[in-house]
Amino acid sequence: MPDSLNDKITLVTGAGSGIGRATSLVLAREGATIAVSDIDADGGEETLSAIKDMGGDGMFVHADVSRPADVEAMVGAVIQAYGRLDCAYNNAGIEGYWGGRLHEYPEDTFDRLIDINVKGVWLCLKYEIPEMLKQGGGAIVNTASAAGLVGSRRLSVYSASKHAVVGLTKSAALEYAADNIRVNAVCPGIIDTPMMDRLVEGRDDYAAAIPTRQPIGRKGTPNEIAEAVAWLCSDAASLVTGLAMAVDGAFTAQ
Ligand SMILES: NC(=O)c1ccc[n+]([C@@H]2O[C@H](COP(=O)([O-])OP(=O)(O)OC[C@H]3O[C@@H](n4cnc5c(N)ncnc54)[C@H](O)[C@@H]3O)[C@@H](O)[C@H]2O)c1
Repeated sequence: MPDSLNDKITLVTGAGSGIGRATSLVLAREGATIAVSDIDADGGEETLSAIKDMGGDGMFVHADVSRPADVEAMVGAVIQAYGRLDCAYNNAGIEGYWGGRLHEYPEDTFDRLIDINVKGVWLCLKYEIPEMLKQGGGAIVNTASAAGLVGSRRLSVYSASKHAVVGLTKSAALEYAADNIRVNAVCPGIIDTPMMDRLVEGRDDYAAAIPTRQPIGRKGTPNEIAEAVAWLCSDAASLVTGLAMAVDGAFTAQ
């Protein structure tokens, strides 16, 4: 898909690491200008440098997606700099891993997970969509998870948060389809990122089981998610909206 996003102004949250960074680079390769956003300024600036090293263009915007004022200012900064927002990849999220079963889950960890993974995506949609309505269209991709399509032992609240992302995605797709705004979700399986490193740390049994949990027999790479997101953002996916796209080596086909 060479130049499939030429001249598109694109916002990526959680762009300072893992899937968000890989996707920012693939979107830049496709010709998009990237507003790189993250709560981690160092990570975000590193991603922006990598974009510039490959001849791309963009800016860094610091934001905590769970804070309404930050998200409003983040979208405002993109509009101020570029005058429009063509594509948005709402990807920032946390694992909120606890290790215990549902009834043991701490309430403050529950609240933090829902604030970032669910309210964060909703806030991004809330401030991105009015800009897309004004300009007559746009494409949005949210990061859900394979755990947003099936249950997940020991990750119950994470799984619930990602099911909510799928629900927000489908509902937004219905509400804005006639406005030429497409809203899709990507549902990664087990992907080799710092988040996955944290999840397997000290859990040799979990790490050893990855090849059987994910039938393709290996972890995915952040780039394999990035390519799916780039396609969903592009005009090649013009009829695709309301999709929760599993990119998971058949994890959820079982
Ligand atoms: N790695 C996997 O196997 C996997 C699988 C399914 C879904 N996901 C989802 O993919 C997304 C990216 O995960 P990753 O694996 O790249 O993780 P990661 O930890 O490498 O990157 C997540 C990024 O989000 C940022 N972030 C965290 N909280 C934030 C906040 N409140 N505001 C703004 N930015 C914030 C972090 O600073 C970090 O740069 C997440 O939504 C995650 O739930 C990951």
